[in-house]
Amino acid sequence: MTRPALLSTAALVAGAASIAIAAAPVDRPDLDPADIDRIAAIVAPTSDFTRAENFEANQGGATTTMRLDRDAFSQPAANLDFAGRADFSVGNGVFRKLWVSAPSSTAASDGLGPLFNARGCQECHIKDGRGHPPAAGATDAVSFVVGLSAPHGGGAAFAFGGQLQDFGVPGLPSEGRIAIAWTEEPVTLAGGETVSLRVPSYSVTEGGFGPLPEGTLLSPRIAPQMIGLGLIEAIHPNDILARADPADADGDGISGRVHWVTDIATGEPAIGRFGWKAAQPSIADQSATAFAMDMGLSTALVPRAHGDCGDLQPACLALPTGNPPGGFEVAPELFDVVVFYAGHLGVPVRRDFDDPTVLAGKALFYGTGCTACHTPKYVTSNDPSVPATLRRQLIWPYTDLLLHDMGDGLADGRPQGDATGAEWRTPPLWGIGLTATVNGEEAGYLHDGRARTLIEAILWHGGEAAAARDAVVGMTPEQRAALIRFLESL
Ligand code: HEC
Ligand code: HEC
Repeated sequence: MTRPALLSTAALVAGAASIAIAAAPVDRPDLDPADIDRIAAIVAPTSDFTRAENFEANQGGATTTMRLDRDAFSQPAANLDFAGRADFSVGNGVFRKLWVSAPSSTAASDGLGPLFNARGCQECHIKDGRGHPPAAGATDAVSFVVGLSAPHGGGAAFAFGGQLQDFGVPGLPSEGRIAIAWTEEPVTLAGGETVSLRVPSYSVTEGGFGPLPEGTLLSPRIAPQMIGLGLIEAIHPNDILARADPADADGDGISGRVHWVTDIATGEPAIGRFGWKAAQPSIADQSATAFAMDMGLSTALVPRAHGDCGDLQPACLALPTGNPPGGFEVAPELFDVVVFYAGHLGVPVRRDFDDPTVLAGKALFYGTGCTACHTPKYVTSNDPSVPATLRRQLIWPYTDLLLHDMGDGLADGRPQGDATGAEWRTPPLWGIGLTATVNGEEAGYLHDGRARTLIEAILWHGGEAAAARDAVVGMTPEQRAALIRFLESL
């Protein structure tokens, strides 16, 4: 694949060095030259942990919201104007809408399926937060999606399509249901405390299309939280490229890779930013894919009215669609407004950010190497193509958006695009301290929700993050508690 020449080699080397030392200025054609050095100084990692940094509490810049209850993730960006709020609220309606199968008397809401995982976006992105693995004995795995590939990576021609659908429209069976068997594995930490990690073992019960072929690759994932996604999309490409170090040239053991994918609308190479393996370059592409794969709904971007019906599922392909003549099941106005909604959920304000224990935890987060992947801050692009509310904002998402080999423990063994079965995108950590408030005790961390607590999530880190994990294992109980308090304040 040809890659756009966004950075000179010299700039790439300077960027790599910045990971180890301090932020050397990244080439930012969107900024005034006079601004570049000033912004490089602002986003350089701090070394003063005696007090909070300027604007640190407002992790989402001017979008930062004040609500901290169960609705903390569902607020419009605080700086949205009146017209923007109106679009946001229409988009919220589409995000919450429950679709029905075609044909129905409500033509504007039909076209669901034939195979589907859920009837609406919000069924998976619960309260605009994250999904969870099904509870023991539960048949409902709605907010939990299982990607499928043929045993040797056959891809699109695979009989079951690219994803396991647990539901079919009336008359069409389910493809099967995911079953999880958990094994507990204790880990002993310095100071004597023991934490038990639950190790999942996945299998699929046979559905109406027969058993999955022997050796089918499974990639179970929970739906991620929806906050701040427009800001993630507004991070300047050069800021991402500058942190990539695919061959680990700086020898720090961490080799983040950009996941180059193809933008659906333009057909051009683009930086993958969304999804647990950064397989989607934009909110629009991710949303169109969700409509097709998760709900079986066609859009102009992904015009697959039969959604994820596989080539060998004629009963699925024969069912009626909800496409109006010459159109799509999801009208372009509805699609655009749900994409707008997904890009304008504000990020909640931090709590206790200047508490001495939280600041001590912050020092450990930086000192232990967490920031080698969980990059604290950026100033978003000032390019006129970026919506005004998201432009030139100082944000604190704690991600480099790069792929990292996280070791065998977390590997799903299923490659996706250029990402291997062991690689995952560093997820943003903003808002993570509100997960239990928004999504309750059942919410889990990591791509498949296996970690029940933040310490479990850290202890699962392996591969490139093994040294950081070992450092946490070796901390005193007080240090570990401070590190967790810092995460809880995000
Ligand atoms: C069946 C459950 C399900 C439904 C329904 C669903 N999603 Fe998702 N969503 C997911 C999962 C799982 C991921 C992670 C995908 C991956 O890793 O590839 C995701 C990821 C996303 C992301 C990227 C978030 C990030 O931080 O990377 C966006 C944006 C998104 N979904 C929007 C939508 C929209 C809009 C809808 C409705 C049109 C929708 N989703 C419907 C399960 C769902
Ligand atoms: C080599 C890069 C790397 C380093 C270093 C690293 N992480 Fe991560 N982190 C990741 C990736 C990638 C994931 C997602 C893994 C998955 O879902 O399987 C992740 C996930 C997490 C999560 C769960 C996020 C969620 O939304 O569920 C937490 C919490 C976290 N990391 C904290 C830390 C802390 C604390 C440290 C330092 C002790 C650290 N990480 C070091 C890359 C890294």
